[in-house]
Amino acid sequence: MEAMATVLQLVKRLSDCPRPRVLPGIALRHYHDSRDIPTWLELRHRAFARAKPGVQRWTVADFEADLIGRPWWRPERLWFAMAAEPGGGSPFAVGTVVLADRAVGGAIVPAVHWLAVAPTWRRRGVGRHLLETLETRAWELGHREVFLETHVGWTAAARLYESLGYEPATGGIPML
Ligand SMILES: CC(C)(COP(=O)(O)OP(=O)(O)OC[C@H]1O[C@@H](n2cnc3c(N)ncnc32)[C@H](O)[C@@H]1OP(=O)(O)O)[C@@H](O)C(=O)NCCC(=O)NCCS
Repeated sequence: MEAMATVLQLVKRLSDCPRPRVLPGIALRHYHDSRDIPTWLELRHRAFARAKPGVQRWTVADFEADLIGRPWWRPERLWFAMAAEPGGGSPFAVGTVVLADRAVGGAIVPAVHWLAVAPTWRRRGVGRHLLETLETRAWELGHREVFLETHVGWTAAARLYESLGYEPATGGIPML
C-alpha cells in the first residue's frame, strides 16, 4: 500500500462462521488467469481515482510482484464481484478483494488486501459481500481473526470496516 501517512491497522475476531448474504445481481468469481490482470488493474485505478491520499497507478509487473509473487498467492484468494446488465450481456467486474497473509506475533493471519468497488456501484452492499466472503474463507481455513490496513483518509472504507466489527489492532502486522 503506497499511502504512507496515517495508517490504521484493524482486526476482527470471528466468533462464528460468517454467513455472506446473497446479493441480488452480483455473482462472485475467482481470478482465472493473466487475462484478468488488466480488468483488476482498471478496477483498482477507478476505485482509488479520487482517494485521498491517492495510490499510484499499477502495471502488470506491479500486480505480479504484489500478488502472484507472494508465498500465499492462490487464484482462489482473489475475488471479483461480477454484475450483469438487466436483459443480458456479459458480466463485468464491479468489485474485488484479495485474501493475503500477514505475520502477527509469529503466527500467520489472514488479511484483507486491495478491497475496491467501482464508484458507480457503491452503497449497494458489494464491499460488504466481498468482505463477508473473505471472512468465510478465512474461517474455513481455520483462522479466527482477520486483519487489515487502511488509511484514516479513506473514510468510506473506515465506515465499512467499523460496520462489520473491525477494531483497532495492537502491534504491527507485516505483510509476508
Ligand atoms: C470502501 C469501499 C470498498 C466500500 O464499498 P461499497 O460497496 O460501497 O460498500 P457497501 O455498500 O458494502 O457498504 C456497506 C456499509 O459500509 C458503510 N459504508 C460504506 N461506504 C460508506 C460511505 N461512503 N459513508 C458512510 N458509510 C459507508 C455503511 O454502513 C454501508 O451500509 P449501508 O449502505 O447499508 O449504510 C468503496 O467505497 C471503495 O472502493 N473505496 C475506494 C477504495 C478503498 O478505500 N478501498 C479500501 C482500502 S483499505
